[in-house]
Amino acid sequence: MNIILLGPPGAGKGTQASRLVAERGMVQLSTGDMLRAAVKAGTPIGLKAKAVMEAGELVSDEIVSGLIGEQLDALAPETGVIFDGYPRTAAQAESLDGLLASRNRTLDRVIELEVNEDALVERITGRFTCAKCGEGYHDTFKRPKVDGVCDVCGSTEFKRRPDDNEETVRTRMAEYRAKTAPILPIYEARGLVARVDGMAPIADVETSIEAILGPK
Ligand code: AP5
Ligand code: ZN
Repeated sequence: MNIILLGPPGAGKGTQASRLVAERGMVQLSTGDMLRAAVKAGTPIGLKAKAVMEAGELVSDEIVSGLIGEQLDALAPETGVIFDGYPRTAAQAESLDGLLASRNRTLDRVIELEVNEDALVERITGRFTCAKCGEGYHDTFKRPKVDGVCDVCGSTEFKRRPDDNEETVRTRMAEYRAKTAPILPIYEARGLVARVDGMAPIADVETSIEAILGPK
């Protein structure tokens, strides 16, 4: 099964994708994670992407579609994929069609997380992750069970993203409205879109997504 998780910054795409990885053995392909890894490693792509990401704007279609193609090539054909944060423009949606078709993959579902943008600012500015294993947390909505200690790996080091400040978040949301939301009708016309209330508690969002995807 191959699915797209679509929604503005902070909608919960990464949160739900990690759970699907754990529960269904699918692979999460997050262009945001790939780009952050490239920035950290100082690769040519990372050098190009850094300032664009820090401004909350979109990295070029060629770069992100190239990254997705490389990752798909590394997967066994039967492995299910969750596209998280990709595609984000009409050009990327078109590239994805080609990338999937040339690998005999089909797109099964596009799940849109519907959210209230103002609440997202709080979600994003309160977000942090474990510096060691990457588990995601939130100051209010998902604190570690023991303060300051990662539930998953026990690490006591956490980090925050440089683009998670309010000003950049507003730019990221404007980019979503202008460039990403307009691709939904493409998938609607193919009958692929299912909508989920992304403002519900995390566990309820999980339940709704499970209902859409059906038995494992
Ligand atoms: P990317 O990394 O994709 O960021 P994003 O789309 O802005 O999404 P986020 O990771 O911020 O949010 P999310 O929906 O995953 O939410 P999360 O689950 O963490 O992209 C970053 C940048 O990279 C872009 O700005 C761009 O520059 C570049 N880029 C990436 N892909 C690109 C592409 N395809 N083309 C061009 N450029 C690209 O949840 C947020 C917080 O809320 C967490 O703390 C979580 O615990 C909490 N939370 C989650 N769900 C709930 C809930 N239901 N209730 C309460 N709290 C919740
Ligand atoms: Zn950890």
